[in-house]
Amino acid sequence: MYMIHFPCPACGLYTEAWRALEHLYKEGYARAIGVSNFHQTHLEKIFAMCEIPPMVNELECNPYLSIAPLRQYCHEHQIWPEAWFPLGGPATRLSGKAVGGKRLLEDGLLIGLGAKYGKSPAQIALRWELQSDIIAIPKSAKPHRIRENIDIFGFELSESDMAAIDSLDCGQRSGSDPETCNDQF
Ligand SMILES: NC(=O)c1ccc[n+]([C@@H]2O[C@H](COP(=O)([O-])OP(=O)(O)OC[C@H]3O[C@@H](n4cnc5c(N)ncnc54)[C@H](OP(=O)(O)O)[C@@H]3O)[C@@H](O)[C@H]2O)c1
Repeated sequence: MYMIHFPCPACGLYTEAWRALEHLYKEGYARAIGVSNFHQTHLEKIFAMCEIPPMVNELECNPYLSIAPLRQYCHEHQIWPEAWFPLGGPATRLSGKAVGGKRLLEDGLLIGLGAKYGKSPAQIALRWELQSDIIAIPKSAKPHRIRENIDIFGFELSESDMAAIDSLDCGQRSGSDPETCNDQF
């Protein structure tokens, strides 16, 4: 998988960059090509010129930033949404930006559901992502957490619990905003 990291809209180069990715794909240098941090307006510009549509769109996404309309747009166009910061991101980065003074993994609902299902808040968040057809890429440097984060396939959140987690969305963005970020490379 080879991806464009950010659209950097002010630079006006992402359609040109997409041509280069298509070339790499057609030449067999990449098995899949995708984008990251592309909003619907950016994807529409790609669709207007592309021969090969993006296969994945990697986005900041978790229960506090559920981006449901963008995910729906991606699914309707056969682009898999992939979540970065699926656990809310590194604690240090979030310390100044927590919702109501709490971080995602300290959310009361996730802790309560964790007790109900015998899982950790991180596993509840990852399971919500899985059941929402989102590919999550959690990061941990701790072996026991890496094991914990893959152990989400033996239980299922009920429809009402999924809806309760959906309602946590408050638009909290902890990373760069794709609309205004023009210096990522
Ligand atoms: N495309 C993009 O623009 C973009 C931007 C940012 C990040 N990413 C990618 O997204 C992936 C994940 O990002 P991330 O690491 O920043 O965010 P994350 O996976 O949401 O959060 C990682 C943080 O959660 C902790 N953690 C992991 N598992 C846990 C668990 N089971 N219980 C409690 N805490 C847990 C980790 O600490 P420990 O390590 O101490 O366990 C780390 O502080 C990475 O591959 C990253 O490269 C992509």
